[in-house]
Amino acid sequence: MLRSCWCPRQTQHDCRKNSLAGGSDRWCVVVGETAHADVVTIEASDRGLRGSVAVPGDKSLSHRAAIFAALAGEAQIGGLSRGEDVACTVAAMIRLGAKVDGSSWSGCELRAAAGELDVGNSGTSIRLLMGLLSGVPGTHRLAGDASLARRPMERVAGPLRQMGADVTTTEGCPPVTVVGASLHGIRYESPVASAQVKSAVLLAGLWADGSTSVVEPHMTRRHTEEMFDLTGCDWSLHGTEVSITPGRPQPFSLVVPRDPSQAAFWAVAGSIVTGSDILLTDVYLGPGRDGFLTVLRSMGADIDVVDERPFSVAVGSRVADLRVRAAELQATTISGELVGSSIDEIPVLALAAAVASGTTVVRDATELRVKESDRVVSTVAALQALGVDAEATDDGFVVHGRPGPLRASQTIDAALDHRIAMMGAIGGLVSVGGSHVSGFSSVSTSYPSFLADLAALR
Ligand code: S3P
Repeated sequence: MLRSCWCPRQTQHDCRKNSLAGGSDRWCVVVGETAHADVVTIEASDRGLRGSVAVPGDKSLSHRAAIFAALAGEAQIGGLSRGEDVACTVAAMIRLGAKVDGSSWSGCELRAAAGELDVGNSGTSIRLLMGLLSGVPGTHRLAGDASLARRPMERVAGPLRQMGADVTTTEGCPPVTVVGASLHGIRYESPVASAQVKSAVLLAGLWADGSTSVVEPHMTRRHTEEMFDLTGCDWSLHGTEVSITPGRPQPFSLVVPRDPSQAAFWAVAGSIVTGSDILLTDVYLGPGRDGFLTVLRSMGADIDVVDERPFSVAVGSRVADLRVRAAELQATTISGELVGSSIDEIPVLALAAAVASGTTVVRDATELRVKESDRVVSTVAALQALGVDAEATDDGFVVHGRPGPLRASQTIDAALDHRIAMMGAIGGLVSVGGSHVSGFSSVSTSYPSFLADLAALR
């Protein structure tokens, strides 16, 4: 049963600290009879998944749209993600001075909020806000939940300090305090391929004296660049170097396309559940986001990209429908740049590997260890709970696939990680006796309507 409430995780994390105007319940959905009934059972699918799904608006782009709307002081945004992560960014922007009425945004100069900004589970919120707030006068305190409290923030704080920012972390992690300061532009060669690091530095660059550039070891998602382009900022892109000249983003209108990271759950489900035929509508496909399609196709998946149209010509992104039909899959290798462009989809791709023939290897993937959970550990543990032969390696993991139904033997622990919860749920569709996932309410961070969409496809 699905039930709406203000926040599914009131006991761990109090979203009301950031309360949205009107205390809307549109943002969160809780699963189960009560806010504490957090174990979900997913039964095996006996006849395939069929129909069309409109997954939520892209989470990465939604965070940035909210931030740029507040900076521009005027915007129309449709299709914003309704997940709790984006709700945290929206709530933070409201507390910093933005006004939101439905899809209309207005506002004034950003100013420090009284008290802490609670960003829940959201690494994107905290890292982008660290950059943004580095140049906003006042003292800003940013904190989140137990999962966020373990995640590294020095990768962002370091380059911001090089720009003159006053940033203090707690032993490298949240809570973080930022005191607005005068910033100067830098050229930063990032040792880590992270869109969050890149975006934080570039957002700080909007306030800096002189231009700011970030050079990445390899290309990452380009949503901040898309927003620079949409809002008339003076920016440039040369290979993996992005530069921004200080200035104020201009008013804009945007309909956020649908999230490829969520579409990937159904792309895998449609591929591995016999008899499936699913249409995923209006999915964002762009640099750093479409690696899951490359991986699934290399495994023999039957996925057609239909009605592809341009989204941001400046970065080469598109929007398209994806038609997914069940297919027999073979093992693959995910390594190098492909890891970066499928980083959030690797848990569910590992599930596809579990029912493929042969051994799939994921390597060069140490970044998995610093996500909402240590996703090397949590992905392997979830696979093992589903009865799959898988083991962790130093920089990834190995999955020994076997076509045919899985035999789940234990409850899967979502480990405070929405993507592990949804991967465990999809695993139940191909497991004799289904699957049990504990900590399932974590899906509300990104995909509150996940179970409703699954019910519609059955
Ligand atoms: C994101 C960047 C990625 C991704 C995260 C969203 C973003 O993180 O895993 O879910 O919106 O910029 P990193 O920048 O840490 O790679």
